Amino acid sequence: MEVSYDDAIPNNVDLSSDRTLLRALESWHPGYLDWWQDMGPDGFQEADVYLRTAVGVDPAGWAKFGYVKMPEYRWGILLAPKVEGRTIPHGKHKGEPVWQEVPGEYRALLKRLIVVQADTEPASVEQQRYLGKTAPSLYDMRNLFQVNVEEGRHLWAMVYLLVKHFGKDGREEAQALLERRSGQQDNPRILGAFNERTPDWLSFFMFTYFTDRDGKMQLAALAESGFDPLSRSCRFMLTEEAHHLFVGETGVGRTIEATCAAMNKAGITDPFDTEAIRKLGVVDLPLLQRKANFHMSVTRDLFGSEISSNAADAFSAGLKGRFNEAKLTGDDHQLQDATYAVTRVVDGRLVTEDVPALRAINSRLLDDYIADCQGGIDRWNKAIEKAGIHFRFTQPHKGFNRKIGEFAGHAISPAGELLGAESWAALKDEWLPNGDDIAFIHSLMKPCHQAGAYASWIAPPRMGINQQPVDYEYVKID
Ligand SMILES: [Fe+2]
Ligand SMILES: [Fe+2]
Repeated sequence: MEVSYDDAIPNNVDLSSDRTLLRALESWHPGYLDWWQDMGPDGFQEADVYLRTAVGVDPAGWAKFGYVKMPEYRWGILLAPKVEGRTIPHGKHKGEPVWQEVPGEYRALLKRLIVVQADTEPASVEQQRYLGKTAPSLYDMRNLFQVNVEEGRHLWAMVYLLVKHFGKDGREEAQALLERRSGQQDNPRILGAFNERTPDWLSFFMFTYFTDRDGKMQLAALAESGFDPLSRSCRFMLTEEAHHLFVGETGVGRTIEATCAAMNKAGITDPFDTEAIRKLGVVDLPLLQRKANFHMSVTRDLFGSEISSNAADAFSAGLKGRFNEAKLTGDDHQLQDATYAVTRVVDGRLVTEDVPALRAINSRLLDDYIADCQGGIDRWNKAIEKAGIHFRFTQPHKGFNRKIGEFAGHAISPAGELLGAESWAALKDEWLPNGDDIAFIHSLMKPCHQAGAYASWIAPPRMGINQQPVDYEYVKID
């Protein structure tokens, strides 16, 4: 059967005029659909879901709402508009016109950057595969599926770059993206956090707040790329990513809201009165802090080694910039002589040292990420304060629970003290989700699948999606 790709795949890359590209995508497409059926949301593939589809990149085109069955979602290939006269913002080629074709000398490095980004997209769909069954409302279920189909679209976006610009290698990489599996022993996803499980809805909200924010930072850094198709692709992906971050921030926020309301109603003032609070069917705030600690620390690992020659190479080559690179003032965007302060463990002590800024690109992106995380945390704290409860969420020290980079192999408390292995073992259950926490969260994960109903542990949202009411039938299950 001839698929009309201009109808089936919304695109602004003139897909129908490029026969080779079309053929490559046509042969990839069935495998993608098989992957979606095997590894996408378990169940609900026949349900009508109220989804947003991007059919263009202009304000009128990128958010069309309507009921659609997920396998029929129109995964588009959309690049942000070309900026006339754009030049490479950083590195050795700074000021030269951006590349429309792959620069030969950087082919391998560029391909690797695209593949690593691409791999995270299907990975998160796999991690979230079973969550629909325990959705705390149809509104939340719809948001989960929206995130899932958009991560699918992000995979399309990256596969487009691979097959269009990297020939046979690119087609092989596109195929391998459908073969790796999150958490699988012999063929796992590339990055560690994307092999962790997302087994419950608190994990999902923490993931979309903290881990999708890594996605935002990486996409923002790639949006600065001198390889213009990558830049334009990432710029458009960032508009979708904003919704994922919203799902995370409001999901955790609504959980906090339900907890505070239940505590106040029951006259409980001590946020650490765990037993009494859990009896109310809500999540105690210290548990949420431990969940946040876990997700923050595994996500920080995604930034790679703080000091990295690969990151220096990608920056100098003009392939990946810093956060907001083109807008940064105060240095020459080449960083040959600049330094950057990096915290490391030296002789059993945490010290902050100036290192060559070029080699500290990852460290800087991580610092920018940590700063970017704080906004939502402040808003959560404000809500707790408003409810009259004495509790504040904090970000643990950068070195807490790290497996990659300068702090790997060291036991560091959330407050930033270096510990011996024994103290760590004695205290880690206070800092990371412990067995009781996980069992309790598990006990709360009961489906709440009637329109307008919300599980006890989460408050309804203030507003529905696309101005629909909060009791709208966002997913028609039968
Ligand atoms: Fe994504
Ligand atoms: Fe995302």
